[in-house]
Amino acid sequence: MPEQGQGVGNPQADDIGGEDSPRPARVVAVANQKGGVGKTTTAVNLGAAMAELGKRVLVVDLDPQANATTGLGIDTRSLENSTYDLLLRDVATEDCIEATSVRNLFLLPATIDLAGAEIELVASFSRESKLRRALDSVRGDFDFILIDCPPSLGLLTVNGLTAAEEVLVPIQCEYYALEGLGQLLRNLDLVRANLNPKLVMGMIVLTMYDGRTKLSQQVSEEVRAHFGDRVSEVVIPRTVRLSEAPSFGQPITVFDPTSRGAIAYRELAKEVLPHAQRGLGPGSGLADSHPGGPGSGRNSPSPGEDGGDPDQSAPAT
Ligand SMILES: Nc1ncnc2c1ncn2[C@@H]1O[C@H](COP(=O)(O)OP(=O)(O)O)[C@@H](O)[C@H]1O
Ligand SMILES: [Mg+2]
Repeated sequence: MPEQGQGVGNPQADDIGGEDSPRPARVVAVANQKGGVGKTTTAVNLGAAMAELGKRVLVVDLDPQANATTGLGIDTRSLENSTYDLLLRDVATEDCIEATSVRNLFLLPATIDLAGAEIELVASFSRESKLRRALDSVRGDFDFILIDCPPSLGLLTVNGLTAAEEVLVPIQCEYYALEGLGQLLRNLDLVRANLNPKLVMGMIVLTMYDGRTKLSQQVSEEVRAHFGDRVSEVVIPRTVRLSEAPSFGQPITVFDPTSRGAIAYRELAKEVLPHAQRGLGPGSGLADSHPGGPGSGRNSPSPGEDGGDPDQSAPAT
């Protein structure tokens, strides 16, 4: 594993609450099968904000689009190993991890090779648990592992959910915000029942919030009415700076440390960090409440839209 000057296993702990680091790592999957809702932005910037607080953080890029990888300034062409090699070539996890320019922040990078993994994994032994087993060997080295899932519910996302203890779901404050959420929650139930009984629904984070629009407020109110204090208090504002940062290969906390986006992700880090896992386990009834629940009104998809995505395959049992 690469060193960053401070060395592996040397927490620069300015821990919240003054406690020792809760290693082995808490593993959080950032998932929502909708694309463009802020998964990658949240994985990268929440990770960077946690790293700034002295936590050792690993971001796992599980999306063939490799946005988290390039967003953290890693050139995918220069990589020897990636999550593809981890999942399909059994390359040691330590040999795939890259240091980033941010102290305490590490990356398991993706390349476009990962696009084939969804198919190639099908024939693999224990195909749903590949990532979990790969991460087991490095869990003791980190406080947090954030898995940036692809915009589908296929085998890659199932690997992310199987490796995680909790799921963080970004929801974009836009029309159709809640579309597909029922499908996601049902998939969580399936993964929990068949692959990973520990998995809980963690925090819901409202992203791209524009306080000037009624729609953002309505979506926020609707999500909070349904999910209560599971929704993070801080909302991530829609800001140009957040969308510019990836093209400079920097998280917002470095690119523009005093910007509204940086402040919001720091607030989110402080909300997520001390959270004991208080997620919902089986029988929460959440999944059952969809799609008649949130978004069944103005934000609901037209019939057939939810679940019509060919990517939305249920996990194999
Ligand atoms: N809070 C925000 N304000 C402005 N742009 C954002 C914000 N969050 C994400 N974006 C932009 O929206 C697009 C989709 O975000 P991304 O995090 O890549 O979503 P996902 O990973 O869910 O597909 C990206 O271009 C990103 O830069
Ligand atoms: Mg993404």
